Amino acid sequence: MSTSKQILVLGGAGYIGSHTIDLLERSGYSIIVLDNLYSGHKKSLSKNIQFEKNDISKNNLSDISDKYGEISGIIHFASFIEVGESMKDPYKYISNNIDRSTDVMEFMKNRGIRNIVFSSSAAVYGKDYKDKLKESYIKKPINVYGYTKSVVEDLLSFYDEIYGIKSISLRYFNASGASHFKNIGEDHPNETHLIPLIIKTALGLREKIMIYGDDYNTPDGTCIRDYIHVDDLAQAHLLSLEHLINGGDSDVFNLGGSRGYSVKEIIETTQNITNLHVNKEITQRREGDPDILIADYSKIQKKLKWEPKYEVDDIIQTAFNWHKNNPDGFN
Ligand SMILES: NC(=O)c1ccc[n+]([C@@H]2O[C@H](COP(=O)([O-])OP(=O)(O)OC[C@H]3O[C@@H](n4cnc5c(N)ncnc54)[C@H](O)[C@@H]3O)[C@@H](O)[C@H]2O)c1
Repeated sequence: MSTSKQILVLGGAGYIGSHTIDLLERSGYSIIVLDNLYSGHKKSLSKNIQFEKNDISKNNLSDISDKYGEISGIIHFASFIEVGESMKDPYKYISNNIDRSTDVMEFMKNRGIRNIVFSSSAAVYGKDYKDKLKESYIKKPINVYGYTKSVVEDLLSFYDEIYGIKSISLRYFNASGASHFKNIGEDHPNETHLIPLIIKTALGLREKIMIYGDDYNTPDGTCIRDYIHVDDLAQAHLLSLEHLINGGDSDVFNLGGSRGYSVKEIIETTQNITNLHVNKEITQRREGDPDILIADYSKIQKKLKWEPKYEVDDIIQTAFNWHKNNPDGFN
């Protein structure tokens, strides 16, 4: 498809943003990125991207709109993302994740921009549900991070009801893997995600991986999570954006692979794929970790014809290649 529609990507220099932008570029869109580089990397973006290093604010967004002209849609990745930190410094999360998002909504209202895709999270569900999670389940976040995502989803539906702004909130499960198309991958400054931590341990860049509890109600006692390749996430953003641009309704979708893997299974698979040993240590459970979190993604499969393409072996292989070739990340 070829189009010159302009898309404003907030937080586009981050992990999921940079992979999505690569796909949008290859699909013919013209991209403007607003990112303050708190945790993102300008090097993750190609030279064709129009980049503004700045915070989200109503003024900064208006300046972008004045400078670049018509914006057909927004993808909003910008957020602080560490669950543990959100419980130590809630105000930091409330002000960045909720307040800045309300600036985005007001800007859209003021400038007549009608389409937004928002990065939500499986963290909105909490830990009470035992089966595969469906979008219809009542949200019960158990940390401030998940709460901020839930509030923004709810505000977006009010902005649809009141002003006709259409939104898709995508609840990602565990985003992982690295690009099949470009030398980009996961490089969070303070990494808390399991797969990069395991791979860095395998490569000798970390001493060991901590397993937080092996007495969960799962076959091997370690927590089970649903891992989704970042290129599959990118595809879901493209489909969501095009759905909205083509006049589609607001919605909320899970993005996962519908299969769970325990922490021990991920470690074993990494060892098998890489032929490297992963040092591990079992320690105490962390507060608020559910036994199992698996997505039911049948809603987006049915409505937008999205399907995850990549399995966990591919996730680990692409992540391994990225970390091996870029031991210092984007630095
Ligand atoms: N990584 C995951 O597994 C995962 C899972 C569920 C949801 N999410 C959500 O997906 C989104 C992207 O996650 P990620 O892993 O790519 O994170 P990331 O930290 O790599 O990307 C976030 C980007 O937003 C930018 N940013 C943050 N606050 C900003 C502000 N006020 N103004 C301008 N830029 C700002 C950062 O510099 C960074 O480039 C986040 O909203 C996150 O909550 C991620």
